[in-house]
This record gives sequence, C-alpha cells and structure tokens, in this order.
Amino acid sequence: MSPKKVSDEEDEDDLENLKSTYDPKSGKEPQLTDLPGIGPAVASKLESAGIYDLMSLAVMGPSELAEIAGVGPGVARKAIQASRKLLNLGFVDGIEFAEKRANICYITTGSKELDALLGGKGVQGRAVTEAFGAFGSGKTQLGSMLAVNVQLPIEKGGANGKCVFIDTEGTFRPARIRQIAEGIGADPEKVLKNIFVARAFNSDHQILLLDKVTEMIKNGEPIKLVIIDSLTAHFRAEFSGRGQLADRQQKLNRYLHSLMKLAEQHNLAVYVTNQVMSNPAQMFGDPTVAIGGNIVGHASTYRIYLRRGKKDSRVAKLIDSPDLPDTEAVFFVTEKGIVDEA
Ligand code: GTP
Ligand code: MG
Repeated sequence: MSPKKVSDEEDEDDLENLKSTYDPKSGKEPQLTDLPGIGPAVASKLESAGIYDLMSLAVMGPSELAEIAGVGPGVARKAIQASRKLLNLGFVDGIEFAEKRANICYITTGSKELDALLGGKGVQGRAVTEAFGAFGSGKTQLGSMLAVNVQLPIEKGGANGKCVFIDTEGTFRPARIRQIAEGIGADPEKVLKNIFVARAFNSDHQILLLDKVTEMIKNGEPIKLVIIDSLTAHFRAEFSGRGQLADRQQKLNRYLHSLMKLAEQHNLAVYVTNQVMSNPAQMFGDPTVAIGGNIVGHASTYRIYLRRGKKDSRVAKLIDSPDLPDTEAVFFVTEKGIVDEA
C-alpha cells in the first residue's frame, strides 16, 4: 500500500477535501488505515498504544494523536476529522440527540434524595461522577452500593450490567457487598460474581488497568460501572514533592480524560473517590479542598462533596454541575447500604 500523504499546509477546515480510502459499499467496517495519513506503520503504533478502532481515534485530541502516532499535528487533525466523518459524529439533529440522551444509563444510589440531587435517577452513564470528602464521609460506601445497584434491571433503577472495582487502598469488602445485596433482596453470591475487582498497586498500574477494562468490554462483558477508589491516593503519594505538582496534575489529567472517553464510548458510568486535604490558605468556610484541585473538578461531570451531618447522617452537596443546581441532600449509611431514613 502506498503511503497517503497529506501536507500540513492544506486547508484543514475543509472537511469535504478529506480523502479517506474507505469504500462504504465494501460492507467492511472502516479501519484505521482507511484514514488519510495513516498507513500500516502508523496504525501499528496506534495499536500498540491501545487504539484499535476509529471510535478510539475520533475522541482523541490532535496533539495527543500526533504524539502517539509520531505524525505532524496537521495530519493528526485530518485523521481525527476523517474518522469523525466516517463515524457520522459531530452535528446531529434534535431527534437523534434526544435518542442519544435517552440511551444513557442511570444507577440509583439507594437514596431518593441523593438521586434527586444528581438529576433524578442517580449516577449517570457517559459521565464521570466524583465523590470527595473526609475519611468516613461515605465515599467507599456509596461506591459499594452502586456496585450492587448497577446490576438491577433498568426498571428498578439499575443498568442491568456488571461492575469493575479498581481498588487502590484495599478497601473493597466482599462481606459488605453481600450485606448490601441482601438488603435489596438479591442473591449475594451472584452479585459478588458480577463485580470484577482489581487491586492497583501504583498509579501506573491504576492507569494500565483501564486497558484491561476496554478489553473486557470488547470480549462482551456488559460493564456499566467503573469505580476507582481512590482516584488520587497513589498520585498523591508518588508525587509528593513540591516540584512534582505539575507532573502529578498532568498525569492525573490525562487519566481523567481516558476515564471520560471510556464512559462516553461504552455508555457506562464512572465513579471515582477523592480525598480532601486541608487548605491552610482558606480562612472562611470549609477549609478542605479536593486533591488534584481544579483539574479533577473540570474533567468530572458531576462532583459531590460528602460530609457527616447531624445524627450520623451524611450530607451530599453538588458542586459546579453543568446542568444542575448546587443543592444538598441528606442520606444515611446503614447495614443495608445507602438509604433516605435511618
Ligand atoms: P476514606 O476511604 O477513609 O477516605 O473514607 P470513606 O469516605 O470511603 O468512608 P466510608 O465510605 O468507608 O464510610 C465509612 C463509614 O460508613 C463508617 O464510619 C460507618 O459510619 C459507615 N458504615 C460502613 N459500613 C457500615 C455498616 O455496615 N453499617 C452501618 N450502619 N454503617 C456503616
Ligand atoms: Mg474509602
């Protein structure tokens, strides 16, 4: 096959000029090598970076693709545009958009109040939900509840799917899962079997495990929820020096984007937990800020701040949501899991 040359100087905004070699009449799925500027050598580089199909490439940014594929930014941009065109991404009409939204899965938290805070039906698919708060505020408990509830049928508030639990701190408790499963009247052993648990030993391992998740989905596992508990602990421990903050943020940022991509591509929910640290610079209000600060805040679609409230309740506050008001919900952690009234 002769290499398809695209110069960086060509008009990059002219979508009509993108020449892909893909023939829709062939009946084949379009391949990476059907994209302009992507020959077999570049395609194999992409594959070794875990990019096997057009969808994975279509959601990348040009500089990221250029770096991985070793091509110029112009070529990268053209390849991304061509892949989006082939996949018919981009503008859709209102009905199609509404259908895409209707397709989103939801997972009930077990508390009507907390579900309402999150827009009515709980944690959403195609989105990353981050819970941050002090130790004992209920982050892991909420994760455990979701790991069980995702398995419920859709009409009962679940997504009829399985869960991946990436555990960085050794907090996954099978006994607690059994207890919660019994609480909703499900078979505890069946519920446990539908939760794939992996212990991540360091941040690199944690990042690598996402490829494993993609592989499992490709192999047909109906994974609808990915939990990372905790998102930031390894990053915090490994990049603790003063001069390492920028590196940590960059790595964390890249990881979060991979999580968002995973959520978007496979219509699944991602739930991550985040600790808080005290912020000595803040004099009023709650003197705690989430690890990772703004970057985590921007990449995750829904952020909830958890704290202990009166009479052993938990208070959840929604922060900076793109489409929901910043309100509060009160719930309880009991034997049965997350509930509205103790
Ligand atoms: P860190 O991981 O330490 O940052 O905290 P976290 O926010 O993950 O806390 P977690 O979700 O583990 O919450 C722990 C709290 O949940 C405990 O202090 C209990 O109040 C409550 N809890 C956990 N298990 C049970 C249970 O079986 N019954 C009841 N009633 N409460 C429980
Ligand atoms: Mg925890």
